[in-house]
Amino acid sequence: MQRRHLVLVVTILALSIAGLLGSAFADSPVFEVDREFYPYYPSLMKWNKSNVPFNEPKRCSGCHSKQYREWNGSVHSLALKDPIYQGELNKGVKAVGHDIARQCEGCHSPVGMMTGEIKGAGNAGLSNMALAGVSCDVCHSISGVTHCQTPSKEPENGSFILTPGVETKDGQTLIKRGPYKPSENCGGGFHKCDVSPLHQKADLCASCHQVYHYDAHFPIEASYLEWKHGPYAQKNILCQDCHMVDVETFKRSADQFVKPKREEHHHYFSGANYLLTYLAAGAATKAGDEKLAKSLMQQYEMAVERLKSAADMELFPIYHDGKLDELRVRVKNIRAGHNLPTSLTNVRQMWLEVVARDETGKVVMTSGTLNPDGSLPDTARNFNSDGMGNDFHFAIDPWVVTAFAKHETIPPRGYKDVFYGIHFPAELKKLNLEVKLRFRQADQKVAEALLGAVPKDIDLEQIYGLKEVPALPVVDMVVKQATINTSM
Ligand code: HEC
Ligand code: HEC
Ligand code: HEC
Ligand code: HEC
Ligand code: HEC
Repeated sequence: MQRRHLVLVVTILALSIAGLLGSAFADSPVFEVDREFYPYYPSLMKWNKSNVPFNEPKRCSGCHSKQYREWNGSVHSLALKDPIYQGELNKGVKAVGHDIARQCEGCHSPVGMMTGEIKGAGNAGLSNMALAGVSCDVCHSISGVTHCQTPSKEPENGSFILTPGVETKDGQTLIKRGPYKPSENCGGGFHKCDVSPLHQKADLCASCHQVYHYDAHFPIEASYLEWKHGPYAQKNILCQDCHMVDVETFKRSADQFVKPKREEHHHYFSGANYLLTYLAAGAATKAGDEKLAKSLMQQYEMAVERLKSAADMELFPIYHDGKLDELRVRVKNIRAGHNLPTSLTNVRQMWLEVVARDETGKVVMTSGTLNPDGSLPDTARNFNSDGMGNDFHFAIDPWVVTAFAKHETIPPRGYKDVFYGIHFPAELKKLNLEVKLRFRQADQKVAEALLGAVPKDIDLEQIYGLKEVPALPVVDMVVKQATINTSM
């Protein structure tokens, strides 16, 4: 009898602890959530609700063909269709339930989420508006942000407000917001215009470029805050000034802190994702759309070029008692406005490969060479972050990651030093060094897992011509060679 009593007490205790744990995040006094204010939680997007419709990009293209051509082929135009995204979303909905999809769609296809059209992973049956991802009418309907009211009191998880227009007794009026003071005929009878200071600020991008754990509010991607806490923000060089311009203009913004002229802005939104645009170019060619394929290949080339412009490297031999002992490699972030790498730092890989040879070309030492199966060796110096849950175990999935076990990214205009102990045969006089800073979108196994999880209606072979996941391409951002003496 007494024993049974004890079991009961223990059970009740265990249940109440489980209950506490289960609700610990949602009821956190640190991250209070106002669910009335944020009806789409865990997305923090808001909609000034009316019957005024959103319009698909094709509708804008008749009068804004230049912006349409540049945007069509950008990563923004692919944000929903992206097969890597679809694979991860599919896994997320299975692991957490449908609620999490709202968080993802709030950034990857805001209008599709808000209208309730998107029910989970997959493209089947979706309207062009939902399929267009981060489209014209998303950005140009943003009428404000709620960055100071979010649970973290920082921009996060889509904390913007959409107002596509207004309804009056005379009917509906579309209002599009942009950088200019409206001209007389602005909107050509289709829409009215509103000058918007927000569109000339990084805050416009911030809501989506600060990705937080859907419930624990841990910043998994933090490009905006990395930028804000660095030198480019101090000089008013915005996201737009590097990502809405061509490569040459971006270099000028970064090197000289010179703001591009209005006319120099383009709708490329070009970043580092060369893999996605390459895959999509293949799909466009297969579908017979040569114009789109060309624009996607241009995006691919711009991303590779941007990566190759972002960093620099210096090599210093270090001698002890007159004998070569160590190699110091300094990796500098010279042109990324935020940390390098940024955003999905727990998925991207940016690492050093070092090869030292003797005078006959025989390899004396290596570090960071890919394994035959395409994986990166544990000992490679990787400037990434390792995501984890609360247990020091490596994790990738954004619904699991609530902390970083390590965070090795390089701040804007900053550098990191890496030291290598060097061992060589005593008789050697000189060493030939080759050091590479290498980048790829993801580890081979991670890419295989995500593409393997793509929902059934997206046939990778039929759309992209992929029978299997190919070896992920690597971009060499910087390559340095040097010959050094083994003694002083
Ligand atoms: C990610 C947000 C975003 C998306 C998506 C977007 N724009 Fe823009 N757009 C901007 C910003 C920011 C500016 C202001 C750039 C500046 O300061 O010069 C702008 C400027 C403009 C302008 C003013 C002229 C110019 O080019 O500077 C027009 C017109 C325009 N956009 C139309 C479009 C159309 C049409 C689409 C879709 C094909 C589109 N935008 C997609 C953010 C966006
Ligand atoms: C706050 C906005 C936001 C939310 C919420 C969000 N994402 Fe993203 N996501 C982004 C941005 C911005 C990028 C681009 C980062 C980059 O290119 O490094 C991205 C990139 C990705 C990528 C990589 C795509 C590629 O081609 O490399 C995947 C996969 C992804 N997101 C999945 C998800 C899933 C699944 C969810 C929901 C659990 C989610 N995202 C929620 C903004 C968001
Ligand atoms: C019937 C033609 C027409 C259509 C369709 C159209 N626009 Fe415009 N829009 C204009 C004209 C004309 C201007 C003024 C451009 C100028 O003065 O150079 C303009 C200006 C703009 C601006 C700049 C506003 C400013 O003051 O900075 C934005 C942003 C914009 N349009 C967005 C859109 C979006 C988004 C769509 C699709 C949903 C769209 N437009 C569809 C004709 C159109
Ligand atoms: C409504 C949300 C949203 C807004 C607003 C937004 N973005 Fe994005 N952006 C995304 C998402 C989602 C992705 C990633 C899509 C993917 O990889 O599947 C992305 C991708 C990008 C990329 C490409 C990253 C890469 O890996 O190549 C760049 C560059 C970028 N955004 C810049 C901007 C800039 C600059 C602004 C502000 C003018 C902005 N974004 C505003 C959601 C947004
Ligand atoms: C001084 C120029 C500069 C500014 C300012 C800048 N960026 Fe970048 N950005 C780069 C360069 C260079 C890269 C490519 C190297 C890298 O991945 O960091 C990049 C890459 C990115 C990527 C792709 C990362 C990936 O691995 O796919 C995203 C997303 C991005 N930037 C968003 C932003 C946002 C949001 C802002 C503003 C808060 C911003 N950037 C401001 C230069 C800049």
